[in-house]
Amino acid sequence: MLRNVLCLVLGLIVGIQLTELWDYMTLISDEYESTAIAADTAASTALDGPSLADRLYHETRVLCLVLTMPTQHKTKAAKVKSTWGARCNKLIFMSSQDDDALGAVNLNVTERRENLYAKVRAGLAYAYQHYMEDYDWFLKADDDTYVVMENLRLFLYPYDPEAAVFFGHRFRTSYPHGYMSGGAGYVLSRDALRRLNLFALNNTKFCPLNTQAEDRQIGHCLLNVGVVAGDSRDELGRERFLPLSPRHLMPNIQYGTWLEKYYFFKPNTNDCCSDSLISFHYTKMHDYDMYEFFLYHLQVADLPKTLSSLPPRLSDEQMKEKLKIWDEQISDNE
Ligand SMILES: *[C@@H]1O[C@H](CO)[C@@H](O)[C@H](O)[C@H]1NC(C)=O
Ligand SMILES: *[C@@H]1O[C@H](CO)[C@@H](O)[C@H](O)[C@H]1NC(C)=O
Repeated sequence: MLRNVLCLVLGLIVGIQLTELWDYMTLISDEYESTAIAADTAASTALDGPSLADRLYHETRVLCLVLTMPTQHKTKAAKVKSTWGARCNKLIFMSSQDDDALGAVNLNVTERRENLYAKVRAGLAYAYQHYMEDYDWFLKADDDTYVVMENLRLFLYPYDPEAAVFFGHRFRTSYPHGYMSGGAGYVLSRDALRRLNLFALNNTKFCPLNTQAEDRQIGHCLLNVGVVAGDSRDELGRERFLPLSPRHLMPNIQYGTWLEKYYFFKPNTNDCCSDSLISFHYTKMHDYDMYEFFLYHLQVADLPKTLSSLPPRLSDEQMKEKLKIWDEQISDNE
């Protein structure tokens, strides 16, 4: 009797954990695909209402601010918009020219490398003035950053956007807490954005206006108004935000680069990247669509999961027919 009850309880626990695991797996795979899958499995557990992917989208609302310039509106910025940027709850390009089709805002800052910091300040002020209450997290990225939005949301989900925190790839600098790499993208909580605007941007003591690197200066301002530099590494200590592109990271992190002395946490060169990775940097024009394909389209056959039985084999007759058809194919590329 007791044994039966024990078995039942154990079975229930395993069942529940498997259900959670399954939900998690579908959540981190393609957002659109998973809507359908999660809805299906949810039906059997009597979970009415939106799927986990939908909930995540609506409960962890991310406004994306992408740093670009007019010469990139039709190139990199357009690629961002047609790929990962489309998954932001709101996408705004920080530029020096309005472009309604793209969603670019003229922030009235002259295009110059040493003005990038002024431009990001203006962008973060703009987001605060217009969208503060409508979003939970505020991501700053470059137009050559690639972000896996689903993984960003899932990572942020446990955290309160009213906590003063920001996440990204942490770099070392002269002040002890470091700052987040601009190229990997960094994300501010709502309270971090509020503090920045209320107490830092109008105060040259906390947040001097100069021509230094954007990421370092914003990090400094945030630190001065009590915003904590969060740790976004996974349980194995692998980075989720990456200031390099996959070709710089695999098969090993390339050392001897300018970056080496910047790492806040010394990376494991042989195991660079988290399985729940959030971002890459140095995305080239042809990379955006390639990443999309590998992340959102390519399906690797997962036999036990996708198949209940193997497909029938062709008969000799059918096989011959196939060979004949293939043999007669001609190029349509004149
Ligand atoms: C930029 O300047 C123009 C003209 O003064 C103004 O209308 C516009 O609101 C400014 N843009 C921002 C984002 O401040
Ligand atoms: C900045 O603005 C905040 C909020 O309006 C105010 O309390 C603070 O005194 C201002 N700081 C400076 C240096 O003007």
